[in-house]
Amino acid sequence: MPANSMDELVSLCKRRGFIFQSGEIYGGLQGIYDYGPMGVELKKNIKDSWWSSMVYKRDDVEGLDASILTNPKVLKYSGHEDTFSDPLVDCKDCNGRFRSDHLVDSECPLCSSTNLTDPRPFNLMFKTAVGPIDDGKNFAYLRPETAQQIFTNFKNVLDSNPKNLPFGIAQIGKAFRNEITPRNFIFRVREFEQMELEFFVKNGEDERWHEYWLEERLNWWENQGVPRSSIEILNVPDDELSHYSKKTYDLMYKFPHGVEELEGIANRTDFDLGSHSKNQKEFEITAKVTNNKESNSKLAVHNLDEKKWEIPYVIEPSAGVERAFLAILNEAYNEENLPDGKTRTVLKLSKHLAPISAAVIPLKKNDDKLVKLAKDVKNQLQQASSRRIILENTGNIGKSYRKHDEIGTPNCITIDYDSLEKKTVTLRDRDTMDQKTIYIDDINKHMLV
Ligand code: GAP
Repeated sequence: MPANSMDELVSLCKRRGFIFQSGEIYGGLQGIYDYGPMGVELKKNIKDSWWSSMVYKRDDVEGLDASILTNPKVLKYSGHEDTFSDPLVDCKDCNGRFRSDHLVDSECPLCSSTNLTDPRPFNLMFKTAVGPIDDGKNFAYLRPETAQQIFTNFKNVLDSNPKNLPFGIAQIGKAFRNEITPRNFIFRVREFEQMELEFFVKNGEDERWHEYWLEERLNWWENQGVPRSSIEILNVPDDELSHYSKKTYDLMYKFPHGVEELEGIANRTDFDLGSHSKNQKEFEITAKVTNNKESNSKLAVHNLDEKKWEIPYVIEPSAGVERAFLAILNEAYNEENLPDGKTRTVLKLSKHLAPISAAVIPLKKNDDKLVKLAKDVKNQLQQASSRRIILENTGNIGKSYRKHDEIGTPNCITIDYDSLEKKTVTLRDRDTMDQKTIYIDDINKHMLV
């Protein structure tokens, strides 16, 4: 059962160390968040799950980790310098600034005035000086999407790792947008991470692959605990498509603040490789691209059947890590009434996403023998796991269970006096709260991972 409100999620995130306002002790920085001990694990597990499904489980995708600082020419030919903007209006009465497409009844959301300027385009890219002289000429952009360096590295990847169409290049990394009105917790922020695949296909096979990736992505979300029934597929209307897109499906999710985009799956045609390629006239580029006289590379593949070089089409599933985090957290959030009249908050996260895979809890925090055995068990389990196992030595089993319910730990292992004598432990299941006694040597067989 999803959370009742964003406030419940914000409060849980702060209380249990998932997410903090960045620079909070100095009043924060709008639209920027930091991830705490639990947040960093959940984020990593989401990214690992994406990477595993997009790269490791396939033979037709390679990975990339490109730079954030971007040569302005990349974003000139990609069209971002000219078109990557949102419509900005000022309120003439209170000087507030807003996106005109977010206004309700053309009113200022701060003072309800309708005395607003006409909308004007505001470019969302952050710029920074490069080198010791800040003269406005030597600058780079912080990338607004991870996709562009996949396109500019197309030939490097292909030459070093030859592949035939169709094939893809995947990347996970930071992106930056100077959003006019960052809001709704981590939903719309200025610094975020994207998980993007650029999947290169033959022109003519693009529509089939677009449907294929829509299905693949819905399956992935389902495996992360965001069921199809929670996602609406929006076929983005032509007049709202990005400048590069022939067709885009937006996966729309019911976030606590409303139904909004979780992921976009776009058919970017041959726009990007065509835009960044030299000798464009040698190819039959279908998209409207800017004449490029500065690139030194042909971003094309050799069609052996037709004996010609051609620029592939691109299908792009692009998901934001923060929105994934928020949707997964929202779906996992449960408040349950217990038989003793109390309630518990429990995160029913898919096991592979839980920040802590198992907590090992000694019955008494000052009993050296119990604590030593608990440490040994923790170390033994950690050796066999790539996910985090912790020693939880609070001395209060009830409190420890409550904490681990709230952060979604699927396995709590209690070490008691029987553990010393009979080499058994109690394993508690997060969802059912059932407890069973098992041998220490068998823990791995019984743990939910
Ligand atoms: N390369 C394509 C691209 O960047 P987009 O629809 O602008 O397309 C893709 O962004 C995804 O990135 C979105 O579906 C969303 O999950 C995430 N995203 C975009 N802007 C964001 C922001 N300001 N804050 C958090 N996530 C954002």
